[in-house]
Amino acid sequence: MSQETHREIRVLGIETSCDETAASVVALGGDGRARILSNIVLSQVAEHAAFGGVVPEIAARAHVEALDGIVAAALADAGTELSDLDAIAATAGPGLVGGLIVGLMTGKALAAASAKPLLAINHLEGHALTARLTDGISFPYLLLLMSGGHTQIVLVRGVGDHQRWGTTIDDALGEAFDKTAKLLGLPHPGGPNVEKAALSGDPSRFRFPRPLKGEARPDFSFSGLKTAVRQAATSIAPLTEQDVADISAAFQEAVADTLTDRTALALRRFREAFPDITDPALVVAGGVAANRAIRQALESLAGANGFRLVAPPLPLCTDNAAMIAWAGIERLRAGLDGQEDAMRFAPRSRWPLDSASTPVVGSGRRGAKA
Ligand code: KG4
Ligand code: ZN
Repeated sequence: MSQETHREIRVLGIETSCDETAASVVALGGDGRARILSNIVLSQVAEHAAFGGVVPEIAARAHVEALDGIVAAALADAGTELSDLDAIAATAGPGLVGGLIVGLMTGKALAAASAKPLLAINHLEGHALTARLTDGISFPYLLLLMSGGHTQIVLVRGVGDHQRWGTTIDDALGEAFDKTAKLLGLPHPGGPNVEKAALSGDPSRFRFPRPLKGEARPDFSFSGLKTAVRQAATSIAPLTEQDVADISAAFQEAVADTLTDRTALALRRFREAFPDITDPALVVAGGVAANRAIRQALESLAGANGFRLVAPPLPLCTDNAAMIAWAGIERLRAGLDGQEDAMRFAPRSRWPLDSASTPVVGSGRRGAKA
């Protein structure tokens, strides 16, 4: 169906795969323009802070308590009744199963009550398609997803059509930031606090490894880096504020260096695969995309290789339900709404975007970040 001539499509999205309880209404107008009508995200950071990471049982209970109110608020904010919707889209994986059950069951109940179709959405596809909601970019493009549970380079060819080119073989990047923060005595969530500490640090005081740098496959590894940080911290403990700043700066520099080395391979491969694309895009997503030093490094890498760096606004880089509603709209528009069995769809803790990819520890998985 052509998006220019079609009537508006309006979808409610529900996201509960980790520690954010979120609901959003997104509309695609008959003119092809997308609008986020509401986008409500309740973060559970405070509930998990004392534990230094996400505790699955606490997360599931918090989703149960909050979700109905968040959905009602998202509908009210959007001035939308259930009967105005074309479909309900709920994250069905990958993620923490307790939270996924809460979101998917709520989606099923709302769909049954309103006789609307339910779409079971892959959280990673939500991240992958966000740049089309915010920047209207066309397929194919490269996605660098960096979150608490994933670090992947994905070729996004179309809706439901993704090819994973690289992944972490151990820790996710957000996890490495969070563990580094914990080692340095910085509060959870670690990423923003490591970034802040790094601002007053000297990155040259420590020299941390650049895992997999120079390897032919665009994969990532961060556990050796974490070990090096631990060794450095232990060798000079107790740490002063300046020590913490210096280690944070050296860690962040090692991360940026590794990321750009690995991503450069993927840019080259994209060029070879699509020599006719004149305005190729590198899209970043996930919480770590909030890091300014990393963004800057990727911005110059993209520029040097003739790519445009597309970074959705921060609230749409981190977990949210607008990306789930949008993935639902994309699926409806692509005619992929034939999930008659969505009502029987079971949550999947593992659900790789690219089903042909070989399973790697740490990929296609979202677990406790601690
Ligand atoms: O995408 P996200 O909100 O949730 C997941 O899907 O995991 O990502 C959260 C992760 C956490 O590990 C957090 O420490 C990291 O993103 N993060 C950052 C920054 N802001 C959030 N890492 C580095 N620098 C930041 N400024
Ligand atoms: Zn995410």
